[in-house]
Amino acid sequence: MSFASPVKASLKRIAFVTGAGQGIGRAIATRLARDGYDVSIADIPAAQSKVDDVLSEIKSYGREAISVHADVREPKQLESAIAETVDKLGPRLFVSVANAGVTQVKPLLECTPEFIGNEVRINLLGLMNTHIFAAKQMVKQGFGGRIVGAGSIASYRTAENLGPYGATKFAVRGFTEAAAKEWAQYGIRVNAYGPGIVDTPMWDHIDRELARIEGISVGDAKALRVKRDIKLGRIQQPEDVAKLVSFLVSDEGEYITGQTIKTCGGASL
Ligand SMILES: NC(=O)c1ccc[n+]([C@@H]2O[C@H](COP(=O)([O-])OP(=O)(O)OC[C@H]3O[C@@H](n4cnc5c(N)ncnc54)[C@H](O)[C@@H]3O)[C@@H](O)[C@H]2O)c1
Repeated sequence: MSFASPVKASLKRIAFVTGAGQGIGRAIATRLARDGYDVSIADIPAAQSKVDDVLSEIKSYGREAISVHADVREPKQLESAIAETVDKLGPRLFVSVANAGVTQVKPLLECTPEFIGNEVRINLLGLMNTHIFAAKQMVKQGFGGRIVGAGSIASYRTAENLGPYGATKFAVRGFTEAAAKEWAQYGIRVNAYGPGIVDTPMWDHIDRELARIEGISVGDAKALRVKRDIKLGRIQQPEDVAKLVSFLVSDEGEYITGQTIKTCGGASL
């Protein structure tokens, strides 16, 4: 297993990634930088110190890197984030990755409208608005683009205590298909990644919450599912997801659009 990828020559194109301060977003942003993209990271102000660290890594590859504040729940902030990206780095946005997302763990009978609304605003509305603002810029530029979103294994199979999360990820799959159909005429391909159990702060949170609900020790909920479900025998690393994104936006993926592709070590089987 290798997560190292070579630092390639500059493509003179920009990749915009939301929620790239940590976890999967960080791995995607740094991988795309090594692939040759200059990178703009959109995250919330609370993540700024982590984002600064990601920017340093990207710059160490000889790439340009900026951060723009955007809470993906706020469409105006997203629109400004894309505008600021293009103002600062030039009108050459080619990749947009709507990665920001949250998971909240609760039995459905305990879910409040506020709880559900927050998850929908981040995971679904945030993704749809990110895709649309990015596509508008790509259409204006006139040389196509690649749009990728965060789906999940839960885009195909939901789980107890993760009902609203699964519903948002099912919807991501639907929106990915619709956007791919509408934007193919502009040379824009739209896909999504569908990870399983990735070793990020998000799964640490899921583990703690499941441990509480199931009355087991912290760490055991994750360990049990990795052992039981993942056929390839190890937890997924964020870089496993970044490899798929790198492929999807490359010319190697030129015939793939409208897909939510499972990358889950066989957990969905
Ligand atoms: N970790 C997994 O096992 C897993 C599996 C399938 C899908 N996913 C999806 O992949 C994506 C990334 O997951 P992760 O595990 O890296 O998560 P994470 O919690 O480790 O990181 C999420 C990032 O998003 C940012 N963020 C949170 N709310 C935001 C908002 N309102 N606006 C802008 N940024 C915001 C955070 O600051 C952070 O940088 C999510 O969409 C998630 O649903 C994760």
